[in-house]
Amino acid sequence: MDRNAPVGVFDSGVGGLTVVREIIRQIPKERIVYFGDTARLPYGSKSRDTVIRYSRQIIRFLNAMEVKAIVVACNTASAYALETIQAETSLPIIGVINAGARTAVHATHNGRIGVIGTEGTIGSGIYTEVMKKMRDDIEVFGKSCPLFVPLVEEGLLHDSVTDEIASRYLSVLKGKYIDTLVLGCTHYPLLRSTIRRLMGDEVTLVNPAYETAVELRELLAARDLSREEQAPFLGEQYQFFVSDLAEKFTDFATAILPGEVKETRQISIEEY
Ligand code: DGL
Repeated sequence: MDRNAPVGVFDSGVGGLTVVREIIRQIPKERIVYFGDTARLPYGSKSRDTVIRYSRQIIRFLNAMEVKAIVVACNTASAYALETIQAETSLPIIGVINAGARTAVHATHNGRIGVIGTEGTIGSGIYTEVMKKMRDDIEVFGKSCPLFVPLVEEGLLHDSVTDEIASRYLSVLKGKYIDTLVLGCTHYPLLRSTIRRLMGDEVTLVNPAYETAVELRELLAARDLSREEQAPFLGEQYQFFVSDLAEKFTDFATAILPGEVKETRQISIEEY
């Protein structure tokens, strides 16, 4: 396997760029091929079978791009499809859930952890399962927040409508005396300041993106796959692909990433 090959990262849309941002911060030499399935977002309200089918197509696309490892940046795809696609491909593949769960288990003092995510992620119970395997006395309280994704997609990051909806969702968790809250969806780190204000400073907010980048760095190092050379930024170093409206994605990506994203290419993912 070529250590200069890119890392493939995929998500249902723009949200996975929060994971890309962390990878760029922590391992800036790596090249990245990103795919956002903008035509088929949201994954969070779809069935397990559908999310597995979509994920398989994306893996085939990333394989065609000759990536050396894959990060499933989407929590819902990590919850539903990770195990299946790991078993079907020889490339190293990591998701975001183990990383988020591990950070939360280390951070909690009172053993009471909240998790917010899509209906799919929360309904799957995966965070509870993984955290309980790490420490069986942990209590996990899940809450799906289905309106957060469209609010972020609409750019309403600091808006009274977002405040009102967040306050309703999070009030359920406030009564549970949690001291740690996992932002178990790609989009939620972008609402961090609202969530922080509503939950208070005493609750630790966990962004799985950070720990996922750490896990990727360690995985590449362990397999002797870390890239040595520094390629020019946003030339061929980072390539972005979507399944719908490239322009909208480019604007969003430029707002999130440390540098201008010049080009996003639209592909027909159903062909893979
Ligand atoms: N990327 C999804 C996740 O992290 C959120 C958006 C969606 O529902 O597709 O779960």
